[in-house]
Amino acid sequence: MSNDSPVLSWKSPAPTDSRAGITLETYILEGMMGFPAASGAFTSLLNQIGLAAKLITSKVRRAGLANILGYTGETNVQGEQVQKLDEVANETLIASLGRRRHCAAIASEEMEEIKILSTDPRAKYVVVFDPLDGSSNIDVNISIGTIFGVLRRPDTGGIVTEADFLTPGKDLLAAGYVLYGSSTMLVISTGVEGGVHGFTYDPTVGEFFLSHENIRIPERGKTYSINEGNTAAWTDEVKRWNAWIKEEDKETDRPYGCRYVGTLVADAHRTLLKGGIFAYPADKKARGGKLRLLYEANPFAFIFEAAGGKASTGRERILDIVPEALHQRVPLVLGSPHDVDVFEQFMRGDR
Ligand code: AHG
Ligand code: MN
Ligand code: MN
Repeated sequence: MSNDSPVLSWKSPAPTDSRAGITLETYILEGMMGFPAASGAFTSLLNQIGLAAKLITSKVRRAGLANILGYTGETNVQGEQVQKLDEVANETLIASLGRRRHCAAIASEEMEEIKILSTDPRAKYVVVFDPLDGSSNIDVNISIGTIFGVLRRPDTGGIVTEADFLTPGKDLLAAGYVLYGSSTMLVISTGVEGGVHGFTYDPTVGEFFLSHENIRIPERGKTYSINEGNTAAWTDEVKRWNAWIKEEDKETDRPYGCRYVGTLVADAHRTLLKGGIFAYPADKKARGGKLRLLYEANPFAFIFEAAGGKASTGRERILDIVPEALHQRVPLVLGSPHDVDVFEQFMRGDR
């Protein structure tokens, strides 16, 4: 066969172990291949979450046109005004997760109680999610997100109860988020061994493609992210840390830059990729913190630790906390190991 035959002249890419460019479905399926005992149910569940992300992103991109901006006039269990897009995202996730009968029940920021999706004893998972994070930014076209976590349903038999959700974040099987930013990105992790991987959505083909393989957070960063508007309500320890991080000191590469979007998914994603620290500490207004443990803090803590970062309340590891209530709030500090360590030293009064 001559050398210029199409077969010979087509050079297959050099064999590397990079999987850049594969679709989310392929990545999930390959993950299943890695666990021959996997029944395919976990794979199917993750793919349903990927489908929900595609459906929500198409709604987010048209929100301004599809008359789903603005308030519904209701308030949710958090006492917050419910945006139409919050509800649309919530319904989309429920419909997608309910379709394949692997998800026994869900807990959502938008609903006071858990919702049973399947009484089939083969439904082995429960899912927690914040369907639309950063609601206050919807109307001003600033990045918003979706946050999710997958837990194994305790084999207590019978119908799932709220107690089945009250398990520490270290028991998560998978966690991830979708960032509806300049592009839509889905970041997912099945834990430290599996690593953290980012998939960018190509709306022209309707697929997520692996674009950020094996995300690792830098040991320390150059930005801090906190709502300075809460300064008057902060504790003295937080005030001292905040003053320290803004001081000029070449030796310790200070001051840090300040970045704050007001959407946890956006602020956390930037911190994950670039390093640094995000903090929403307890303060005199919110003594238990503002962010919710089950579907905001735990999924991000799981992801940050899987990427080599740290996640604490400022005093204790987020993933060790045993939840007492579905919508329990918690102070949240996420970031590079060095930067979270320094924050904790201030909280202990060691600095
Ligand atoms: P949600 O829109 O799901 O209620 O979450 C909003 C959260 C989180 O996205 C963000 O980090 C935080 O609220 C911002 O709070 P402040 O506006 O008080 O800074
Ligand atoms: Mn949120
Ligand atoms: Mn929300």
